[in-house]
Amino acid sequence: MRRKRPPHRNNPSPAGVDAAMELQIDGLNKRYGAVHAVRDFTLRLEPGILGLLGPNGAGKSTLMRMLATVTRPTSGTVRFNGSDVGKSPDELRRTLGYLPQDFGIYPHLSAIEFLEYIGALKGIGRRALRARIATLLESLNLTHAGSRPLGGFSGGMRQRVGIAQALLNDPRLLIVDEPTAGLDPEERVRFRALLRDMAGERIIIFSTHICSDVESLATRVAIVDHGTLLADEHPLKLVRGCATLEEAYLQIVTGARPAA
Ligand SMILES: Nc1ncnc2c1ncn2[C@@H]1O[C@H](COP(=O)(O)OP(=O)(O)OP(=O)(O)O)[C@@H](O)[C@H]1O
Ligand SMILES: [Mg+2]
Repeated sequence: MRRKRPPHRNNPSPAGVDAAMELQIDGLNKRYGAVHAVRDFTLRLEPGILGLLGPNGAGKSTLMRMLATVTRPTSGTVRFNGSDVGKSPDELRRTLGYLPQDFGIYPHLSAIEFLEYIGALKGIGRRALRARIATLLESLNLTHAGSRPLGGFSGGMRQRVGIAQALLNDPRLLIVDEPTAGLDPEERVRFRALLRDMAGERIIIFSTHICSDVESLATRVAIVDHGTLLADEHPLKLVRGCATLEEAYLQIVTGARPAA
C-alpha cells in the first residue's frame, strides 16, 4: 500500500508536460463543525488515473475540493511539484481542470457561449478556444447541440458540458467529481475513452460509484470512508481473492477484509 511507483506511461507526453509532476498530500484534514469530513489523508500522486471510491458522505468531494483549492483544509498540506498549494495556488490553478459534483449551468447560454465564457475566464485566446470547443463538443458527442440553450439540455448532456469545461485548458491536473453520473452506457464508454486518450503524463483524479469505471480506467484506486483512506492499490491487485471489484470494495468498507 501507498508505495512509490513509477509514473504510468499509457501515452506519449503531451507537449510541454513536466514528466516529474507530482501531487503530495500530507496529513490533510477538513472539519465542518463536529463533522470530520477528511481525516489525516496522506497520498502521493504521480501521472496516472486515480479512481476514488467510497460511500455517500465518505469525504471524496471534500478531498477533491481541497485539491482543486476551492476549499481550504483545516490542517495538513498539499504540494504540487514541491510548492505548497495553500501558500501559492497559482501553479496548480493554471493547469487545473475541475468538474465539481454540483455543477451548475447558465440556462440561457448555449453550450458554445458557456464554454467561450469559461475559456475566456481561463485566459485562452479566442482562436485556440474556438478550435478547442469544436474538438471537445465532437469528442463528447455534443456538436449537434452546441448552439442550443443549456436550459433545454438533458441531465447527461449538461454533465458532458461540465466535462468539456474541465478539459478546455488541456489540464495536466484533472479533478472530476462523479463525471459519469447521469451518463448513459454509450456516453460513459465514450467518456472513458476520452480520458484514456488524455492520460499519459497527467494526474487525473475521478470519483465514482460505478466500479466498472474504475476497473476499465483507473491505474490506481483509493477507497475512502469516514474521511479515511482505507486502501490504495492498482484495481487488479485490489480485486485479488474476490470475484469483482465491487465485492472487494464492499469487503473493505464493511471491514470484512483487511485492505490489500
Ligand atoms: N459545506 C459543508 N458543510 C458541512 N458539512 C459538509 C460540507 N460539505 C461536506 N460536508 C460533510 O462532510 C462529509 C463528507 O461529504 P462529501 O460531500 O465530501 O462526501 P462524498 O464522499 O463526496 O459523498 P457522495 O458520494 O454522496 O458525493 C459529509 O458528512 C458531509 O455532510
Ligand atoms: Mg461527493
